[in-house]
Amino acid sequence: MKRPIAYIAGTGHAVPKNIMTNADIAAMGLETNDEWIVDRTGIKQRHIAKDGETLTSLSAEASRMAMARAGVQPGEIDVIILGTASPDHLLPATAVEIQTALGCTRAAAFDLSAACSGWLYSAIMGESLIASGSADTVLVIGAEKLSTIVDWTDRNTCILFADGAGATVLRRNKERGGTKGVLSSFMRSDGALAELLWRPAGGGVEPFSPEVFEQKRHYVRMAGREVFKHAVRSMAEATDRALDSARLTAADVDLLIPHQANVRIIEATAKHVGISMDKVFVNVDRFGNTSAASIPIALSDAVEQGRVKDGSTVLFAAFGAGFTWGSLVARF
Ligand code: ACO
Repeated sequence: MKRPIAYIAGTGHAVPKNIMTNADIAAMGLETNDEWIVDRTGIKQRHIAKDGETLTSLSAEASRMAMARAGVQPGEIDVIILGTASPDHLLPATAVEIQTALGCTRAAAFDLSAACSGWLYSAIMGESLIASGSADTVLVIGAEKLSTIVDWTDRNTCILFADGAGATVLRRNKERGGTKGVLSSFMRSDGALAELLWRPAGGGVEPFSPEVFEQKRHYVRMAGREVFKHAVRSMAEATDRALDSARLTAADVDLLIPHQANVRIIEATAKHVGISMDKVFVNVDRFGNTSAASIPIALSDAVEQGRVKDGSTVLFAAFGAGFTWGSLVARF
């Protein structure tokens, strides 16, 4: 496959209006404090949905911004892929609700489940659909309303996760010999580690029941220290693979946009790949871990700040529940 076949034509993001600080969480009666959370995670605040804000409404807002920036009309979207682990309904896919909200009447729409790697996997799927000739324009969204699946009495998880949506428009690169677009990608999973970060109940194996609710088995559970170790290792592998396959080195990268889970994981990834922190985009302090939404929110934020411009080479790397991990290099 001769790349680049597809390029990122527009980006957008939307987060709930309501901001929850670390002090707000401590005030809920949890044994935690701002100093611990900032020191261990880098997170200072996060956005938490209220007042009817849904995954669909946040995703539609982010998508409208991305489509406007790409100069694309709703009728031009061939496929909508939503990476999410916290859909509005278990059936059908939230992507079809977004399709209706946007008026993308020609599109096929589906959700993709890869946790925090959700946008990255979706972008790779979008590029593949363009490469196969099935689509010319794909709306790739990463969005989460994790506040609905987090146990707000569990200080191990509730301090980390947050809500938000990021969207990107992927288009066929019509320019022959053009240099703009996706240069390489890598994706991998390891299901043997699934129980380190999961929701034990609420699916087919253990459907919702009074016992499930009582034991809070429908909420996210995480073995934080184990997840941390695997995240560092996998993000390192991911960055190496995408750079190797693009035949680039760290010196060619203008900006690293990693999954925003924890600033210590981000720093370890940057150190491994040999990129100084001034070339790494970090906004986990303002948005927390928005899982599948974190990379597209960060990309849109970086574009708004002028840190991604025409000609920029950007390395993306993600890691999430599954475990899933992956990476992508794109030139803008
Ligand atoms: N406030 C205060 N103390 C806390 C808190 C809290 N919120 N949470 C845990 N502690 C305590 C623990 O109970 C423990 O106390 P003990 O020593 O008396 O037993 C102590 O702090 C240290 O706990 P650790 O779990 O070892 O702390 P660690 O430095 O590993 O930080 C953290 C925990 C932040 C969860 C870290 O392990 C981490 O970031 N892991 C990766 C999580 C992650 O990134 N998940 C998402 C990736 S995939 C995805 O995004 C879906």
